[in-house]
Amino acid sequence: MNNEINLPNHVGIIMDGNGRWAKKRGLKRSLGHKAGADNLEKLLKYIFNLGIKYVSVYAFSTENFNRDPEEVNYLMDLFVKYFTKKKKIFVKEGLKVIFSGSRNNLRDDVLKGIDSLEDATKDLKKGTFNICLNYGGRLEIVDAFKKLYKDIELGCFDIDHVTPEIVSHYMYQDLPDLDFVIRTSGEQRISNFMLWQSSYAEYYFPQVLFPDFDEKEFDKALEEYNKRHRRFGGV
Ligand code: FPP
Repeated sequence: MNNEINLPNHVGIIMDGNGRWAKKRGLKRSLGHKAGADNLEKLLKYIFNLGIKYVSVYAFSTENFNRDPEEVNYLMDLFVKYFTKKKKIFVKEGLKVIFSGSRNNLRDDVLKGIDSLEDATKDLKKGTFNICLNYGGRLEIVDAFKKLYKDIELGCFDIDHVTPEIVSHYMYQDLPDLDFVIRTSGEQRISNFMLWQSSYAEYYFPQVLFPDFDEKEFDKALEEYNKRHRRFGGV
């Protein structure tokens, strides 16, 4: 990448197309998720080394529980393995790993994996990797309102003084707004991904399926982001 590129501070990735990637190769869907997880590891290394500070990924939506139980179980096993095996790598890379989502309905070993990874990386500062797992954007806003309501009842502040900035602090994680959201596989939907944080984000929908969304594809995405920003700044 050339040095004059304008980097987004916070990138979101909707990792879509694992199933189709596997189907095209006559493989089971689960192997598409495995290929997606392998790709994510390489991609994250590349993105954080460029100097991007925040990356959020959509790993599992609340609606994904409606999939075939075999696929759901495979994904949960994959998460547990990934969180355990990659812990050392995240620590070595200096990346803080955080999670967004509901803890309801998640298996104990998944919750344990989440807690342990968050704890092991909580003081790291090179970048922040936010994993949306058992996540829904509307549910996040509803959960935020529930917490906010309790604080208002406790007298922490007056309802008339609630601002968008205050509401932001009640989201699952205190993150900056998303600058750039990429959804792979050609689907052009947000599907309930970080609705509050993406109010001003630029969107990009490459055709490529997530397991094939490599460093070169990310460079193309950044070029597109830069074109959009130049136009925006020029108006
Ligand atoms: C959507 O593709 C993808 C998912 C629901 C799972 C995403 C998970 C990974 C990439 C695994 C790695 C993640 C972590 C955090 C270890 P799809 O299955 O809906 O694909 P399709 O639309 O082609 O069927």
